Amino acid sequence: MDAKELLLTRRSVRSFTDKRVDRDVLKEALRVSTYAPTGMGRQSPLLVCVSDDEAIETLKKLNASILGMDIDPYYGAKTIILAFGKAERVTCVEDATSLLVYLGLALYGEGIGSCWVHRMKQVFELPEGKKLIESWDLPEGYVAVGSLAVGYPDGEHPTVAERKKDYIIYK
Ligand SMILES: Cc1cc2nc3c(=O)[nH]c(=O)nc-3n(C[C@H](O)[C@H](O)[C@H](O)COP(=O)(O)O)c2cc1C
Repeated sequence: MDAKELLLTRRSVRSFTDKRVDRDVLKEALRVSTYAPTGMGRQSPLLVCVSDDEAIETLKKLNASILGMDIDPYYGAKTIILAFGKAERVTCVEDATSLLVYLGLALYGEGIGSCWVHRMKQVFELPEGKKLIESWDLPEGYVAVGSLAVGYPDGEHPTVAERKKDYIIYK
């Protein structure tokens, strides 16, 4: 797939098969995502790849509790990637976002589906979320910005919404 086709056809995937994502392919996509632009080239974010079932259950439960809904916000994904930004960086959120966007595209290029899942900052502000972070022994000073539910797509490739007419303004 060339770059333009990749960009035009990537879609959020919200239905995954039970098959675990190939570890080496996942590792390579994670590596590729670290080539995303970051403010002043500081490479400030952290990515945490979660495949432990218990941790995933906790993330699901906490994220759903923020939503106030009894659903799985991760759509049954067996892998979740969390992006943390370095709180002290003025580009904290943008840097982590940049990596997540690259990662979604890198995964798609390998036939792996993903969907951005929000509410991570709130998740890790909850007591149980704080406990989970502590158990991971992450470096200090990072704030959760977003996450990707990751897995092999199940079913049809999602369709794309028509682009709004006034997206781009030329001056
Ligand atoms: C910042 C951000 C937060 C998002 N949060 C969620 C979410 O919590 N759950 C979800 O199912 N999709 C979420 N999405 C995915 C969007 O709904 C999706 O990108 C949009 O509907 C366009 O579809 P596409 O990605 O297939 O082009 C999020 C996307 C972004 C950029």
